[in-house]
Amino acid sequence: MFMSLCRPPGRNADPQSPADPTAVLDEVLASIGTSAPNTAVALADMLRAPVARSAVDALVLEAMQGDEPLAAVVASRTLDTLAAHRMLAYATTEDAGEALFRLMPVAAGPAISGAEADPDTVYRLSRFAQVRMDDDGISPGRLPAEGGLILESPLSRFRCHIATDARSTTAMRSLALLGSGAGLDAFHRARITEEECKPILAMLLAAGLICPLDAEGLSAEDRDPVLRQWSVHDLVMHVRARLGRHDQPIGGDFRFKNIVDPVPAIRPEPEHTARVPLPVPDEAAMAATDPSLSQVIAARASVRPQLRRHLTLQELGTFLWRTARITRSFESEAGDFTARPYPSGGGSYEQDVWVTAREVAGLPPGFYFYAATTHELLQVRPWNAECEAMIGQASTAMAGTTVPDAVLTLGSRFQRVSWKYSGMAYATQLKNAGAIYMAFYLAATAMGLSPCGLGLGSIEVFARLTGCRMEREGSVGEFALSGPPA
Ligand SMILES: Cc1cc2nc3c(=O)[nH]c(=O)nc-3n(C[C@H](O)[C@H](O)[C@H](O)COP(=O)(O)O)c2cc1C
Repeated sequence: MFMSLCRPPGRNADPQSPADPTAVLDEVLASIGTSAPNTAVALADMLRAPVARSAVDALVLEAMQGDEPLAAVVASRTLDTLAAHRMLAYATTEDAGEALFRLMPVAAGPAISGAEADPDTVYRLSRFAQVRMDDDGISPGRLPAEGGLILESPLSRFRCHIATDARSTTAMRSLALLGSGAGLDAFHRARITEEECKPILAMLLAAGLICPLDAEGLSAEDRDPVLRQWSVHDLVMHVRARLGRHDQPIGGDFRFKNIVDPVPAIRPEPEHTARVPLPVPDEAAMAATDPSLSQVIAARASVRPQLRRHLTLQELGTFLWRTARITRSFESEAGDFTARPYPSGGGSYEQDVWVTAREVAGLPPGFYFYAATTHELLQVRPWNAECEAMIGQASTAMAGTTVPDAVLTLGSRFQRVSWKYSGMAYATQLKNAGAIYMAFYLAATAMGLSPCGLGLGSIEVFARLTGCRMEREGSVGEFALSGPPA
């Protein structure tokens, strides 16, 4: 395994942090090198070009056996400082351009050493490792900065670039072998030489992209009660939507400004067959009769009643007025916006409320869009099998305890958020859905209705009811609402 200095890769580098690895190397050696001066001089020299990790280790060993007992301290501090600045890259060969695999540091961490692969051990890809196209730098009309294939894991501080030329046959064969578990003998049978295979295993192991298996064919990862409970997609999203463990763009960078038109603040009305004006509640009367905030918070609960009076159109209207209406719309330099009763990340307000009404007194059963500006329900579908499925899935989510009078589905216009935010767009929408849930709970509790947040709903059913392309507008949350319990 060879290592070399690199500039911190990626596009979320802290502008305050240093970018020149040679300067960092010289600085660290100037500050600690006096405790092992010959080692420091040799290291400064060695690290200016790709060097085998074993050569550095040999240098340190020799110095310690000679007259520089602190050589190991100087070397490890130097390498760890470089690694802390994401300035150490690794490759399976001296010439990184020739390498089957290259590691680029995506997150700060200690320097890695390439322990030799054990000939009697079987290694397997980490369950969290995934191969995909490197989409760094992709935006409409532009090709990827580097392209090619990468192997990555939310648990690894490295992104592994896979050779894409003629050598990719060996690289992909190695990954295929590691996908089901392989030792040196399996590589040998696949005609991958030991010379090629050993640095691959050492490097991928050090990067946490493969794991050794025990006699029962399990890795430490498989046995770890913490990791066992993470699904791959959940951990990928968690790591990618937060700061610290990746080098990709994240935050409100308006990445599609001047490239794609933004999604408007107010959703155009869907095709509909009827408009149902909702009564506007008397705010003064509500304020006079509402329970206090302390009482509402104390009383808030999920209510799944079997025996109840059904919801009325008047109640549904008041509920939507309190929670989901558009109170104001305005323009700013960043685009057009609305204000609504609940908070929303970036003021995006990307979600609309769609109502599947089963038993709402005064409202024909069917599927409705809540027009939040005009405070109306627009009938998009009369009652049909998809409405039945929506209600049925809500009932199943509540373990069949109740069949709700209505299900409120939060339909998100995803690109309203992803136009502005890199990395955290979907996570923000789920948080926004949580804010809406709480507004729903509080209003329903204050009104004596039966609210229950739901954890699952079908994007297919929603797509069939709305006729929307699911990548453009999809359901991100459902909420069951019924009349007061008996
Ligand atoms: C995001 C979210 C998803 C939920 N999903 C379900 C669900 O699918 N089925 C259900 O019966 N309750 C669901 N609930 C309600 C919780 O079970 C309930 O809030 C929790 O048990 C605490 O009880 P309480 O709301 O009565 O205080 C959900 C609540 C939230 C906030």
